[in-house]
Amino acid sequence: MSKLTFEPTSNKVGCYIYTDLKVVKKDQINEIKNLLNKYGVLFFKNQSLNPEEYVNFSSNFGSSAEYPMLKPHKDFKDIYVIERKKTDTGKSFGEGPHTDSSYLKNPPRYTFLQAIDVPKVGEGNTLFYNQFLAYEALPKDIKEKIENLKGIFSSQGKIAKTRELRMADHGTSGTREIKSEHKLVQSIDGRKTIYCSPGHVIGIANLNSEQEELINFLSSHQIKKNFSYSFGWKKGDIALWSNRSMLHAATAFNGNRKMFRITIQ
Ligand SMILES: [Fe+2]
Repeated sequence: MSKLTFEPTSNKVGCYIYTDLKVVKKDQINEIKNLLNKYGVLFFKNQSLNPEEYVNFSSNFGSSAEYPMLKPHKDFKDIYVIERKKTDTGKSFGEGPHTDSSYLKNPPRYTFLQAIDVPKVGEGNTLFYNQFLAYEALPKDIKEKIENLKGIFSSQGKIAKTRELRMADHGTSGTREIKSEHKLVQSIDGRKTIYCSPGHVIGIANLNSEQEELINFLSSHQIKKNFSYSFGWKKGDIALWSNRSMLHAATAFNGNRKMFRITIQ
């Protein structure tokens, strides 16, 4: 038994894990899964996994999901390259709080991101928002109101704009709208989370006049400072998060940045 060394962030939004993923053991994978369920996002600093090792590590968490909007890496079908060049204009890919591909009927459960080439520390951070904490802090009447409601999630929600640039160079031809409905309250290991992706939610099923007001209320509540953490990348770092319990957002930056993304079904 080799126990992992880990440290939650001060506001309990996510957890740093200090281990070399090149030599991670089976029992440690189980521990990582437990921490992922508990904290929603895990940060692995100072890693040096090559693409093959990265894919292998990710396969411990399930089978990889296909991303309908981009073509995969030419040699590794599980990896999607998220790249931004210094000369690119417009928003960064994924700028604005969201949870990945929530417009799909079965959205990917987990997302891995690995830093291949990043701007200097403090630029190009990823923001994470813990939705266990956001749910707990909701007023009682809102908890009751949303308990059985379903959000309408669309691939053409607000965040679609940030993907246009990536699709221009690596896109698939499938640009039709994809829509799904999901419960706004989900549960992981008996703990409730808010599942409402501000980048994708365009309505609430079976709710008339109050839809917009409720979406606006939730969207601003979900990203309050108490539930958020800004992660700064260095080359090699890996983040792994649960799309059911976290929102995330890219931040604006200038410079070259290349990330390898794997999503898990
Ligand atoms: Fe994302």
